[in-house]
Amino acid sequence: MALKITVIGTGYLGATHAAAMAELGFEVLGLDVVPEKIETLSRGEVPMYEPGLEELLRKHVAGLEGSTGRLRFTTSWQEVADFGDVHFVCVNTPQKHGEYACDMSYVESAFSSLAPLLRRPALVVGKSTVPVGSAARLARLLTGLAPAGEDVELAWNPEFLREGFAVEDTLHPDRIVVGVGGERAEKLLREVYATPIGEGSPFVVADYPTAELVKTAANSFLATKISFINAMAEVCEAADGDVVKLAEAIGHDERIGKKFLRAGVGFGGGCLPKDIRAFMARAGELGADQALTFLREVDSINMRRRAHMVELARESVGGSFLGQRVAVLGATFKPDSDDVRDSPALNVAGQIHLQGGQVTVYDPKGMDNARRLFPTLAYAPSALEACRGAHVVLHLTEWAEFRQLDPVAIADVVVEPRLLDGRNALDPAVWRAAGWTFRAMGRPQA
Ligand SMILES: NC(=O)c1ccc[n+]([C@@H]2O[C@H](COP(=O)([O-])OP(=O)(O)OC[C@H]3O[C@@H](n4cnc5c(N)ncnc54)[C@H](O)[C@@H]3O)[C@@H](O)[C@H]2O)c1
Repeated sequence: MALKITVIGTGYLGATHAAAMAELGFEVLGLDVVPEKIETLSRGEVPMYEPGLEELLRKHVAGLEGSTGRLRFTTSWQEVADFGDVHFVCVNTPQKHGEYACDMSYVESAFSSLAPLLRRPALVVGKSTVPVGSAARLARLLTGLAPAGEDVELAWNPEFLREGFAVEDTLHPDRIVVGVGGERAEKLLREVYATPIGEGSPFVVADYPTAELVKTAANSFLATKISFINAMAEVCEAADGDVVKLAEAIGHDERIGKKFLRAGVGFGGGCLPKDIRAFMARAGELGADQALTFLREVDSINMRRRAHMVELARESVGGSFLGQRVAVLGATFKPDSDDVRDSPALNVAGQIHLQGGQVTVYDPKGMDNARRLFPTLAYAPSALEACRGAHVVLHLTEWAEFRQLDPVAIADVVVEPRLLDGRNALDPAVWRAAGWTFRAMGRPQA
């Protein structure tokens, strides 16, 4: 009989995972502790923006016309425990308030709710990003609390999806990593992922700590690569060099590669910043803090980018934001997402607002989330409207829509045609030809 799958925590990761599991042919039951989320998902609607996800949900959510009916949602732990052969735990693991460490309370709570109800053999699979050592501890907790005892096993299967490509990445992962304590768990996970494995996705089997570390190591490497090029941008600005040319040239070396070498306002979002901090905190607890002190520098280079963007903006309007109108293009931490968690764009917008600037933000998908987080900023319904009356325009999230803007039309509505490109994604020649004073991070001023 086909395995029955549950997904616990239906946010960015869990909602995508649940829909993808249904697409792979499994019967799936999703659970969340927020009833509104469950109601929305049950109607086939996605509570966030992720390209292709709504279509996939509608294809499978039970009760919708023409759907396979393989995907349902609930708030009942009992129903989940009775239903599932494999339970994927996808709850959030944010940074603790006032500390670098990971807040494991949502994971602990999910395990404590599920485990006492597990009366039949099951595999619980953690997907959340957790500090190394968590899986071994949770495995003991699970067998201790579950009435089915040793028949309940734990595996850790970190997730590498990228927001904006979440559906594609989940259906066709570039690798599947599983930390297991035994052969049965490995066998079940090979069954769950038979389709992507059959298509050639590498399946890496490891022990718990290695699987946990793969995720934080991968994020640390990516964060380091971004901060590296941003450090080069700082030097380029000091030496009148061009970081875009530099990145292109070093990227030709296959050992370095072209990806993740775009200098700008740096990384943000719900993963990289908190993951590198939690990694440092955990290494400290393990007595290996020296090994990761470089991540402190990676973090501070990254945070410096935001402050530098504010400085460039202040400089461009004559040294003070008072009485100045600033248009901010972009609110999300990356394009093709509505996620504004720790977004550099909103952070910059907020800092300028606090320094007396009148900031108007426009984002193609992140407006509702941005408004909730920063209700005191002004919001406009289009890029053109955000720019109307502006003394300077800041390009802070690299949405394709912004690359298609007409510099001549925007020049007509601003007070001063000044543009700061915080993502090195716009063509300086085109904007300068339309009369703009164009400045980009790490590039020479014209
Ligand atoms: N978003 C990404 O791109 C991404 C990528 C890889 C890994 N991750 C990791 O995946 C995990 C989830 O991230 P996310 O971005 O989906 O977070 P999220 O905040 O969007 O979703 C988490 C969901 O879990 C629910 N939840 C909280 N406590 C619960 C509980 N006790 N029981 C059931 N549900 C509960 C929340 O209501 C929410 O819907 C994190 O550990 C994150 O680091 C995220």
